Amino acid sequence: MVRNVAGEMADLEAEDFYLLSGIEQGMRYSEWVSRGRLPEFSRLTAEDVGYRIDRCEARGLLERRTIQYEGYRLTPEGYDALSLRTFAEREAIEGVGEPLGVGKESDVYEVRSYKPLALKYHREGYTNFREVDKGREYTADSQHVSWLYTARKAAEREYEVLSELYPGVRVPRPVDQNRHAIIMARMDGVELSRARLEPEQARPVCDLVLREVGKAYDAGYVHADMSQYNVFVGEEGITVFDWPQAVSIDHANAGELLERDVSNLVGYFRRKHPGEVPEADTKALARAITAGEFTSVSEFERT
Ligand SMILES: Nc1ncnc2c1ncn2[C@@H]1O[C@H](COP(=O)(O)OP(=O)(O)O)[C@@H](O)[C@H]1O
Ligand SMILES: [Mg+2]
Repeated sequence: MVRNVAGEMADLEAEDFYLLSGIEQGMRYSEWVSRGRLPEFSRLTAEDVGYRIDRCEARGLLERRTIQYEGYRLTPEGYDALSLRTFAEREAIEGVGEPLGVGKESDVYEVRSYKPLALKYHREGYTNFREVDKGREYTADSQHVSWLYTARKAAEREYEVLSELYPGVRVPRPVDQNRHAIIMARMDGVELSRARLEPEQARPVCDLVLREVGKAYDAGYVHADMSQYNVFVGEEGITVFDWPQAVSIDHANAGELLERDVSNLVGYFRRKHPGEVPEADTKALARAITAGEFTSVSEFERT
């Protein structure tokens, strides 16, 4: 997990953020931003750049390398700090609390505000990028795609999809987005994978989730990463979250992805509650969803 920078925000000065956002700009063109470009990118004097580099490096907000040329890049903590700064300026959040979850490609925190909110930092590109990066010393800058870009695109996409789906589909209410981060309503409850359902609740809950899949389809989207880990079950019902990879129903693979979503869900309920949820014809079920005719998994029992 990337370190939580929220506690250090108060120590940072406006000029520290000029430097960080200067490096952010430079990273659009190259992985390591040359020292010589920093005054221009950050609108600081060369002398102040040196001072700010030391402060930010000491706080783990940037990294330095000296092979070939002296270059700098943001750490994920540095990028997090930039987005937190923006959210604070917009008064979107008052403070960051405990971690709510670590996903495959995100860190999620509770946020203090007028209502319980959640802050999700996208990490797409960062983890993978590290893997790719290990074996090669220099990036061909013409092919340079920064993880900043990949993670920001994922956050923009997730925010866009949530905005389209809310409130017609049971998804977290989107509140704000900046860079690779989104703020949304905090869900109560637990992941479906950890929910203790009574046997007689299994089929009704399975139907509830599949109906939300149907409503999302009617609104134009296939989730494309449906599983027991991306559904919350709480007092007030279920919520489907984690939408950055959602595809439009016009996408060439939408049908296939919908069927995979359906079979992931039905497969999970079947394994957990074999006596309650029938073995279903998931192809036919997915077809019913696309036709807007789905009501219950029990109508798709294989004979
Ligand atoms: N709005 C939210 N409210 C409460 N917890 C959340 C919220 N969003 C995400 N989480 C928690 O963070 C975890 C990771 O979030 P998720 O959106 O699934 O990201 P990933 O793409 O990394 O799987 C979830 O499994 C969940 O426990
Ligand atoms: Mg997830």
